[in-house]
Amino acid sequence: MCRSPYVLLLVILAIYFVDASCAAAADEAKGKGPKRTPDSVFVATPGDVVAKMLEVADVKKDDIIYDPGCGDGRIVVTAAKKYGCRGVGIELSPKLVKAARANAVRNEVKDRVRILEEDIYAVDMSEATVVTLYLLPGMNVRLIPQLQKLKPGARIVAHDYCFQGRVEEPEKTVAMTSKEDAVEHHIYLWTAPLNVNSP
Ligand SMILES: C[S@@+](CC[C@H](N)C(=O)[O-])C[C@H]1O[C@@H](n2cnc3c(N)ncnc32)[C@H](O)[C@@H]1O
Repeated sequence: MCRSPYVLLLVILAIYFVDASCAAAADEAKGKGPKRTPDSVFVATPGDVVAKMLEVADVKKDDIIYDPGCGDGRIVVTAAKKYGCRGVGIELSPKLVKAARANAVRNEVKDRVRILEEDIYAVDMSEATVVTLYLLPGMNVRLIPQLQKLKPGARIVAHDYCFQGRVEEPEKTVAMTSKEDAVEHHIYLWTAPLNVNSP
């Protein structure tokens, strides 16, 4: 009897997945490769949009700013350099964690900036007085339980994506065209406690 081509395909796929997961486990054991695949790719917020986000959040020296999914660390590094505040970046990609830490060293703010190689959903962010977000809308929604633990008065500033209607309308919206990419960007501001709409 002839073998079904589907059986052959299944065998090939099974070999591929076993091989890929062994390689991933070996990489992780060697300290290479992410603990798990990030939920989005890295797209950097342009510098002038970062500056506007920090202005909209009214960042001051006493603030502690968290950037879940910090990429190359530009938001926390800029905040620490410009305002003298502390910053915590959270990133899953080991390459970006390295780049963000190097960015903090290069800009002489490594004493005020911590870059955690962690999953954003596993980190307690309740000490943050400012949280910046440039994540997909579904990721923002998944962060709501953590954002609800922020102290009253903490500011949440989101770049381009909101909460899919799960949170009240932002109290402030700023639109700007970045000089770096000539694209219109939107910045949204909320102040804790977040009012979450029932689903
Ligand atoms: C759109 S980029 C934003 C980078 C930076 N915040 C900025 O505005 O320039 C999103 C980042 O989140 C990271 N990321 C995605 N899912 C993550 C997760 N579950 N935990 C930690 N980082 C994650 C990606 O690797 C990527 O660097």
